[in-house]
Amino acid sequence: MTAKASSDGLMEEIVGLCKRRGFIFPSSEIYGGYNGFYDYGPLGVELRNNIKQAWWRDMVQRRDDIEGLDSTIIMHPDIWKASGHVDGFSDPMVDCRESKLRYRADQLFFAPVIVAGETIGYVSVVECPEQQEIAEKAAADIKRKAAKQGTLEPIVLKDYTESKPEEYDLVPSPATGKPGSLTAPREFKLMFETKVGPLADESAVAYLRPETAQGIFANYKNIVDTGRVKIPFGIAQIGKAFRNEITPRNFIFRSREFEQMEIEYFISPSADWKTLHREWIDTCIDWLVSIGLPREDISEDIHPEDKLAFYSRATTDLMFQFPHGEQELWGVACRGDYDLMQHQKHSGKSMTIFDEASKEKFVPHVIEPSLGVDRTLLAVLTAAYTQDEVPNDKGVAEKRLVLKFSPKIAPVKAAIFPLLKNKPELVERAQALYKKLQRRWNVFYDASGAIGRRYRRQDEIGTPFGITIDFDTIEKDGTVTLRDRDTCEQRRVTEDELIQFLEEQIDG
Ligand code: GAP
Repeated sequence: MTAKASSDGLMEEIVGLCKRRGFIFPSSEIYGGYNGFYDYGPLGVELRNNIKQAWWRDMVQRRDDIEGLDSTIIMHPDIWKASGHVDGFSDPMVDCRESKLRYRADQLFFAPVIVAGETIGYVSVVECPEQQEIAEKAAADIKRKAAKQGTLEPIVLKDYTESKPEEYDLVPSPATGKPGSLTAPREFKLMFETKVGPLADESAVAYLRPETAQGIFANYKNIVDTGRVKIPFGIAQIGKAFRNEITPRNFIFRSREFEQMEIEYFISPSADWKTLHREWIDTCIDWLVSIGLPREDISEDIHPEDKLAFYSRATTDLMFQFPHGEQELWGVACRGDYDLMQHQKHSGKSMTIFDEASKEKFVPHVIEPSLGVDRTLLAVLTAAYTQDEVPNDKGVAEKRLVLKFSPKIAPVKAAIFPLLKNKPELVERAQALYKKLQRRWNVFYDASGAIGRRYRRQDEIGTPFGITIDFDTIEKDGTVTLRDRDTCEQRRVTEDELIQFLEEQIDG
């Protein structure tokens, strides 16, 4: 029997497991934590690196049309003027004057409570999967308290960016439950500022990049001039990005310091961009499935044409079933030539490319698949987190917690156990195998406790394979026992078979 924890409790359980087993810690925890920042512990950093390596291998090294890049986090401030971030990269916020809490206006929902055609109050709720239910319950309470007879009209929630000035004083603050303390929505700049150089004036202002993409656009000419790229081609980058999010939340889903894996894929302005966009969406879905996300938990959110940014031709977000609901994981946008044109205008450098195939010169258009490392890690943890029942050493069914990571990204690939720790011949043989495997993969050696308990410890951190050295290994044919984490099935294999199997499963 296999079960996921209820979606309510699942996030809490994942956060707890991550802390307990050394995947993820709140940043600066000894000082009480720091909202929106997280540190990755020994297992977290392995998982994170494996995700990035898998992406780099599949998107860059195994493709002929994509080149890699690693640009700086702090770049010339004019880049952010050209890209539009200095003027436009902001989120609408609303403050509660009484509680001093700040909300993202597009995540704060409100509705009038109308009974028999008369508005008798307002309800508000912070965005969550149960928001409609919560709002309806609050509306029924208002009606009851007002002792108002008549039919309660359906509660139609709108986000606070759609509020009218006359409603600001009527909508209750979610913090206090009382109206009168919410401000009008205001734009809040998301870029972190810093100062570069000895001057402390405005001329020294620089920004921590809020996306890696602009580093790609700023280097596009270098790669065209020095590489052997031809249209269509892509430039890929993995790196840190920083956003002063108003409401960082849901663990590592929305944080203030995170990492992105982005590609700018440059195409001819006359290319069939709709087909290429579709191909990229499919490539992205296939990749997510290849690292272990269930296909049925991934869906597409196509942005309606009237909601697109003026420079965007189309955007499809790949959505994933996170513990807190279905949310964006990977954005695949067709950005036209907006960014390159802006940089051409602001830098004065030509962004045209000569296309040998068509003998034409043009500024290419781009398709941009943009994925967060941390969000992918949360998706992977969500998909892997499983509670099931398996027989213990005595054959009695026992509950277990298991992370069913794909062997490709699992932090520890295999655990090596001598059956008994007080038998030097078993220990020696197990150590020798451990040292051999350690040269290729991140493996773990464990000699302490009953074998069943050792298996459980590895199940909980998602180690896909358990290898036990027993008396048959040293006295008979040299075979070892190979245990599969998910099925708990065991079989005997020779060392050569073991290595070939691990190669196929981990590196394949
Ligand atoms: N260059 C395009 C761009 O940055 P975005 O939709 O703002 O687009 C792309 O971000 C991806 O980066 C998102 O789909 C998400 O996976 C990740 N991401 C964005 N903001 C994030 C945050 N505050 N915390 C964690 N991941 C974030």
